[in-house]
Amino acid sequence: MRIAVYGASGFTGRLAVAEVRRRGFTPVLVGRDAQRLKAAAREAGAAEAEAELRVAGLADSTGLATAFADCDAVVNCAGPFTRWGEPVVRAAIAAGTNYVDTTGEQGYIQRVFDTFSKEAERAGVSVVPAMADDGGPGDLIASLTAARVEPVDEILIADLRRPGGGASRGTARSMASVFAEGAREYEDGAWRPASAAPLEPITPPGEPAAVPVTAFALPGVVTVPRHTGARRVHSAIRTDAAAMFSALTPDIVDSVPEAVPEEARRAGRWLMLAEATGTDGRRARGWVTGADPYGLTAVIAVEGARRLSVEGTARAGVLTPAQAYDPADFLDGLAPHGVTWEVRD
Ligand SMILES: NC(=O)c1ccc[n+]([C@@H]2O[C@H](COP(=O)([O-])OP(=O)(O)OC[C@H]3O[C@@H](n4cnc5c(N)ncnc54)[C@H](OP(=O)(O)O)[C@@H]3O)[C@@H](O)[C@H]2O)c1
Repeated sequence: MRIAVYGASGFTGRLAVAEVRRRGFTPVLVGRDAQRLKAAAREAGAAEAEAELRVAGLADSTGLATAFADCDAVVNCAGPFTRWGEPVVRAAIAAGTNYVDTTGEQGYIQRVFDTFSKEAERAGVSVVPAMADDGGPGDLIASLTAARVEPVDEILIADLRRPGGGASRGTARSMASVFAEGAREYEDGAWRPASAAPLEPITPPGEPAAVPVTAFALPGVVTVPRHTGARRVHSAIRTDAAAMFSALTPDIVDSVPEAVPEEARRAGRWLMLAEATGTDGRRARGWVTGADPYGLTAVIAVEGARRLSVEGTARAGVLTPAQAYDPADFLDGLAPHGVTWEVRD
């Protein structure tokens, strides 16, 4: 299997290339800068002669589509996606190649659904944005949790990782743009700015006390309403994490190191929670958690790309993770990487 990684020279892109190699597939490294692609290939252990490197900038739509045309799938890691994502989606569709990306940017995900759904269907291509450690597991666990209380009235998605676990410069840059766009929520068939009303504190699984949370623009607000039928979907993160993102000025973003050191990266933990309430008042709570947020993002994106291409069960169009994959099967498949999940009534 040949998997193209766009933005292969970045921090997440290099992890994705390494994951493609670990799975025994052939990585095709695509990006705008030949020297940085060569360095990424060396770092992933691919000898320069055997590595497939393709230089294509975002303005070169033909070059991008040509670079993807003989690949089974594209994993796009070039963010902020709000700025750089759409040309890569368009080129994957033009090439007839399935697409996943590692975005966590709510507004961009909405634009991909709005802009590319019909085009992807016509081309017979599956496009699954948000296959990172928040958007992927968050959408999958929301689906499993919602199923316990159908018909569903309300779902809260919360990213309850503690701040300070180590973020790359690319994440800081992307989160600054997410914060600038503001958070949305979904209610009665439409998306609108998130309510400013304070949220009840949440006791995270495994922690002794409730922590304050604040509305935040998570991918699940865009994806979860598309497959649960919930009347309302909103999202939150810990208030201390939100405060950290809100303080991201351009100077601070530039001062963040490009890469998270390996030890800190592996020690980081993530936890996505879904709380669902049925129209009859029944409640269910599900969560999924693991370590190494960036390493797991690479695993999730590459596995998502593999499943689209090999299993071929996903329909064409822009899909949420829970529409593209069997939620329990996908999460169970992450168990060898230390991921656990649970749903309780
Ligand atoms: N939601 C999540 O949980 C999660 C997890 C991991 C990553 N992510 C997202 O993944 C993205 C990448 O993060 P990162 O830390 O890997 O960032 P990064 O190290 O800054 O990498 C960015 C990549 O994008 C490429 N790029 C930037 N501007 C470009 C342009 N104008 N034209 C073509 N390519 C361009 C860079 O190419 P050059 O090397 O040539 O500059 C590089 O390959 C971010 O949006 C991040 O938020 C999300």
